[in-house]
Amino acid sequence: MKVIVAKDYDDAARKAADIVETVVRENPTCTLGLATGSSPVGMYKELIRRCSENGLDFSRIHTVNLDEYVGLEPTHDQSYRYFMNNNLFNHINIDKTNTYVAKGIGDVEENLKEFNDVLDNTEIEIQVLGVGPDGHLGFNEPGDTLYDRAHEETLEDSTIEANKRFFASKEDVPTKAVTMGMGNIMRAKELLMIIGGNKKEAATKLLVEDKIDPHCPATFMRLHRKATVVIEEALAREIGYIR
Ligand code: GLP
Repeated sequence: MKVIVAKDYDDAARKAADIVETVVRENPTCTLGLATGSSPVGMYKELIRRCSENGLDFSRIHTVNLDEYVGLEPTHDQSYRYFMNNNLFNHINIDKTNTYVAKGIGDVEENLKEFNDVLDNTEIEIQVLGVGPDGHLGFNEPGDTLYDRAHEETLEDSTIEANKRFFASKEDVPTKAVTMGMGNIMRAKELLMIIGGNKKEAATKLLVEDKIDPHCPATFMRLHRKATVVIEEALAREIGYIR
């Protein structure tokens, strides 16, 4: 696993965008695995800029997203479909019919079947990831065992607490989500994690140590042949990764 230390959030965004740009230019018809959260927003802004100013072409790109809240309509402003449209898809030359975010409403079992069918028939060229304060990947919460395939998760209180900043109150945060499983993530040809935001010290420290711990799903990144983590200098210093 390669660790890139970036000067600050904007530098992390540029460095992460460089990696995605290389993938898109080399494989203009590939599938990108995408993530939500504050950490990748800067990278998405940078990709939007490169699309409009440098001709980075998404017209034949497909995407699939990591996860979605259960119970939110795609038009809800906190749904991950809405997030992706707003933060990326509406501003680049992608065909939205080639973008997939799992359904959060309707029959969960049927939605999961559809999500797993999409994943079974897609080879993800690069999977973008963030990390939750408890070390979750997508919405794969810590536990004694982890899941291979897409499934429903009950969110940890620390996850609800971390994500309540986007909702009117904690009670409005959905308690369940559908997410790619750890196997789906690990089968991507390349992984790219961007770590930003608060309360990431503990998970990041575990991630850069030589341990694989299902109680910190992010540590599974270490098992991947082609994984890069971009962290900001201040965080790298805080956890003792650099002096
Ligand atoms: C949510 C998402 C995760 C994301 C995490 C961290 O829980 N399901 O995929 O990594 O938020 O988000 P942020 O980057 O905003 O800290």
